[in-house]
Amino acid sequence: MLILGIESSCDETGVALVQAGATGVPLLRAHALHSQIEMHQAYGGVVPELASRDHIRRVLPLTRSVLEQAGCALADVDVVAYTRGPGLAGALLVGSGVACALGAALNKPVLGIHHLEGHLLSPFLSADPPQFPFVALLVSGGHTQLMQVDGVGRYALLGESIDDAAGEAFDKSAKLLGLPYPGGPALARLAEQGEATAFKLPRPLLHSGNLDFSFSGLKTAVLTQAKKLGAELDARRADLAASTQAAIVEVLVKKSLSALQQTGMRRLVVAGGVGANRCLREQLNAACAKAQVRVHYPELDLCTDNGAMIAMAAAMRLQAGVEQANRDYAFDVKPRWPLQSLAY
Ligand code: KG4
Ligand code: ZN
Repeated sequence: MLILGIESSCDETGVALVQAGATGVPLLRAHALHSQIEMHQAYGGVVPELASRDHIRRVLPLTRSVLEQAGCALADVDVVAYTRGPGLAGALLVGSGVACALGAALNKPVLGIHHLEGHLLSPFLSADPPQFPFVALLVSGGHTQLMQVDGVGRYALLGESIDDAAGEAFDKSAKLLGLPYPGGPALARLAEQGEATAFKLPRPLLHSGNLDFSFSGLKTAVLTQAKKLGAELDARRADLAASTQAAIVEVLVKKSLSALQQTGMRRLVVAGGVGANRCLREQLNAACAKAQVRVHYPELDLCTDNGAMIAMAAAMRLQAGVEQANRDYAFDVKPRWPLQSLAY
């Protein structure tokens, strides 16, 4: 079964082809991505209307490109999968509309996929795929969640951010430090040259006794520190970046370890854009080695948004029999859509 996956929930257009048998780990045949970073950079963040218009321009050329890479024809596609939510409504409508139009034209079924389930299952595309069950640390731009994952579609929320997500903490702190959008990778790069212990920043909810997160206070602390530094900020920016990153990473690592302890699980899967962060990977690797827990990540280029994870999630849902692709073609999108609502 050949699955075409289309991702268009935010500022990246991703298209991919995944081949799935009745059993076994599905195989990525080809994927292509267009990032809108350059276009949005002038505005310091994503402009939703520009994002939608750019998805329209990119989605069909990218589809042609993956078919060519895989040596396939459009008629070979068995199922068209697309991101149904969560995300920007207009951006989601582009991918959904194109996927359903392709499905209708080809008389092939379609399947709407939850973006975060795509992230969650993206480590199955790596050279070292995990096995169920596991604890997942989901750290995307808008979400920070710890989930207990017992199988495809079996997701129980253990804890989540009560305000800003870790990705937002990276992005907003980066903005306060005068770094360009997207802030997370820029702050991480600057932090490499700084001293992580230079500033004492809060570790919110670290000892709360539950698995929830809160990052909005950290952003305020960064702002206060930046103001206090005044003219000195320029010379200390790398130190402040490193201290900010250290605060975010410490909370993510300690809460992940608590989730593993609480559930008795011996496997951790990290997914979402912040999962590309080197400092987070190093500290999680060290903590998990000590606790004798295996940790899995998506390949670096599949940490942030892409079409491969959407095709993969569709393949795994179909294989597991959790859902059937349909010939309804009457799509709707879900800009807000809690992942745990997929549980059955
Ligand atoms: O999963 P993702 O690509 O998009 C969403 O679904 O939201 O995550 C994007 C988030 C942004 O907040 C971005 O700043 C962050 O991931 N990010 C990073 C790194 N790469 C991406 N944060 C810290 N370090 C990185 N290397
Ligand atoms: Zn994402």
